[in-house]
Amino acid sequence: MSKSLLGAALLLAASCAGAAGAPPAADAALIQQGRYLSVIGGCNDCHTPGFGLTGGKVPEAQWLLGDKLGFSGPWGTTYPANVRLRLATMDLAAFKTYARALTTRPPMPYWALNTMSDHDLEALYAFVKSLGTAGDAAPAALPPGVQPKGPVVTFPGPPPAAATAQR
Ligand code: HEC
Repeated sequence: MSKSLLGAALLLAASCAGAAGAPPAADAALIQQGRYLSVIGGCNDCHTPGFGLTGGKVPEAQWLLGDKLGFSGPWGTTYPANVRLRLATMDLAAFKTYARALTTRPPMPYWALNTMSDHDLEALYAFVKSLGTAGDAAPAALPPGVQPKGPVVTFPGPPPAAATAQR
């Protein structure tokens, strides 16, 4: 390889590396919008361990990794998914279809994803992808009546009919 060819190859490699490290401005704006949605949409409150208890002071590298803190109620026990792993196998089109049709057990506000505009879904997707994959999948959900092994937030059962009779 001639010197100039080698130089060109090195330059190309360097610019590719640069592109991977710092996204272009348009992508950066989209990612920033996704970061904003993750915070104001409350996604971190359940999907980022410790987020709610530290006033949101969890390094971004640990966001949306899912949690072993379960939610128990009449539906059994559910665990906030590792969103980064959940989205890993989806391209943008698949994610949009998924987000529009998603239903889950409580207390995941799936209607928030169902309702997001195209642009917001693109932003959320870009942000989650920018975090990369990390961590493990959340524990599998447990059916009603199965005692969870770890800590849970317990939702009260439906109120007795007497408590609501006067409404
Ligand atoms: C109140 C807690 C809570 C909040 C807030 C919350 N989630 Fe969840 N999320 C959960 C739980 C619990 C599950 C597991 C539900 C199940 O197993 O049926 C879940 C599941 C998911 C899944 C996987 C669903 C599947 O079965 O494929 C995704 C993706 C997800 N949430 C994304 C989000 C996003 C994005 C936001 C913010 C807009 C958000 N969640 C807000 C608790 C929450």
